Amino acid sequence: MYAIPYLDVPALQQVSGRVRLPGSKSISNRALLMAALCPQPTTIHGLLHSDDTQVMLAALAQLGCGLDVDGDRVRIHGGGLGARRAMQADLFLGNAGTAMRPLVAVLAILGGQYTLDGVPRMRERPIADLVDALLDFGCQVSWLGEPGFPPLRIATPRRGSQRRVAVRGSVSSQFVTALLIALPLAARDAAAGDIVVEISGELISRPYVDITLGLLARFGISVQNDQYRRLTIPAGSRYASPGELQVEPDASTASYFIAAATLSRPGKASPGLTIDGLDENAVQGDIRFVDAARQMGADIRSHAGSLHVQPARLPLQALDLDCNHIPDAAMTLAMMALFANGRSTLRNIASWRVKETDRLAAMAIELRKLGAAVEEGSDFLVITPPAADSWRAACLGTWDDHRMAMCGALAAFNPARRPVRIEDPACVAKTFPDFFETLFMLAEPAQDVPVICIDGPSASGKGTLASALAQVLGFHYLDSGALYRLAGVAARRRQIPISVDHAAAIAQLCQSLQPRFVGERVLLDGEDLGAAIRSEQAGMDASTLSAWPLVRTALLQTQRSAAQLPGLVTDGRDMGTVVFPRARLKVFLTASVAERARRRQGQLRARGIDAKIDQLRADLEARDARDRLRAASPLKPAGDALLLDNSDLSIAESKARVLDWWQQKQCLEPA
Ligand code: DC
Repeated sequence: MYAIPYLDVPALQQVSGRVRLPGSKSISNRALLMAALCPQPTTIHGLLHSDDTQVMLAALAQLGCGLDVDGDRVRIHGGGLGARRAMQADLFLGNAGTAMRPLVAVLAILGGQYTLDGVPRMRERPIADLVDALLDFGCQVSWLGEPGFPPLRIATPRRGSQRRVAVRGSVSSQFVTALLIALPLAARDAAAGDIVVEISGELISRPYVDITLGLLARFGISVQNDQYRRLTIPAGSRYASPGELQVEPDASTASYFIAAATLSRPGKASPGLTIDGLDENAVQGDIRFVDAARQMGADIRSHAGSLHVQPARLPLQALDLDCNHIPDAAMTLAMMALFANGRSTLRNIASWRVKETDRLAAMAIELRKLGAAVEEGSDFLVITPPAADSWRAACLGTWDDHRMAMCGALAAFNPARRPVRIEDPACVAKTFPDFFETLFMLAEPAQDVPVICIDGPSASGKGTLASALAQVLGFHYLDSGALYRLAGVAARRRQIPISVDHAAAIAQLCQSLQPRFVGERVLLDGEDLGAAIRSEQAGMDASTLSAWPLVRTALLQTQRSAAQLPGLVTDGRDMGTVVFPRARLKVFLTASVAERARRRQGQLRARGIDAKIDQLRADLEARDARDRLRAASPLKPAGDALLLDNSDLSIAESKARVLDWWQQKQCLEPA
């Protein structure tokens, strides 16, 4: 997960390969709760691990349910919400509607002393219709804050003979789902009569109710569905575990990958993208995104247990669609509309306003930043795409909404090859913490992977600056000096003398080295050589062998292969001149030798080594001269490098300066 303020995604050319996506959020949270309501144990396979399911797992554990989590497999002990449950609990449910709504209903029917709350946005998401229905049924629920919204308190219900509840279907289908999961608990008595849920008005997002009905059937509850107007839970209904349950990969998540594969522009024939574990027969409503995408020109083939997507002929066809049945995946259509041959209209999406954020307003604002013209209606969006060359490099706000972030990433396929900055990328954790990692694994950049080179002499602070930049940008980091140092250490270990006569043997050794850099550790053949390569001896050896062209050439490929999406920050002597001559940004540090000697002295002191400043200065000058005068890759700034005299700058100041330059190179307006 990229826990950084923003993520710069370079323009992407295509995605291809094979991927299995994490489990459906809707199925995961429903299945967890239903399993907890069974007297028998259940094993759920393919469970989604994300903020929203974490919230449900934590709540169930707090209520006393036994859970064994092993990767994406979870075993829920039976009887967790039975008589032995915790009768008092304060539950915090984040921003997970799929946890809040059903838990309110289930606990209100079961009874006890509970409070339920969430993040500030959860306190803005309406729940009054559900609570009113529960109150009518004899439940005791009261508001702890603003009436109609969490937080709320639940007490033990007054037992009544009520067999009928009415709920509006037009605000959130989750209210219906919540009632359908909870009311079987009041229908156990075969003699007490059926329970009927009456839906008034139109029921939105029907497919989500279908997921609920399908899962209830798996858990032994067969609800009679009369046109989604009357849903009848037969008297005598009892939760019974199916034993094992497989969760489908999330169809809404799949929409981003289907769109990415559709928007790909491969130079030659593309193998396309295969999404495993999901096909058109999925029970999730958002699988119907496939039809809408096809309408726009997507080439999607459904096989048993997989979907295969080939790049589409671009531009796509503009679309005019009632999206009520696919409210979440319709956001992906809004992004695809940017690649269409005209104006697209997405209708009947008022529910967007009560999701993680007001998605209608948010989407309109962000699409405009990319260059689109957008009309925001009360329950529709009209999107006119930017001309191919008028896409803008934009900083996209994500509004604490995972789908805004995942949608935003699709802008990276723009034909103008503009980068896109995604703010707060970690918000994808709500449903897919590794979304960006997965995208980058499948994607090819439209141009070279962005590289930032920080070159400069010894002790100029390149390493500290470069690794700090890599961290804040979420880029990979390559300390090229460490490779030369490692070459020396590895040579000595194999008894190869560090002498020019053995340059060929050391070069050969360099080609076979497969080090892994993990923080301060440098793992080679399972051994940590981190400390060894930072010794003075290793520094001297590196200085010697780095002057040999054979060795430098041998390490070129290793260095270049570190340039992976989303980008690389690297430091050394010749990163900008030789290794990455086309790097997006080159910085050359010119700290004075006096300042560098002082820094080196500080570093050595920290390691308990006392060194004289004059001696250090002389050593540095000698090393500078050797690095500068050597024939192979002499130390010098690249012609297009920006010089940074960091003698009097703190790391934070240097970092801010370079980030500013980076932002300018990207043509991004300051956020
Ligand atoms: O930056 P450092 O002190 O870890 O580098 C060790 C030696 O490797 C240094 O003497 C110069 C050499 N080096 C090089 O020649 N080219 C690089 N890109 C990086 C380091």
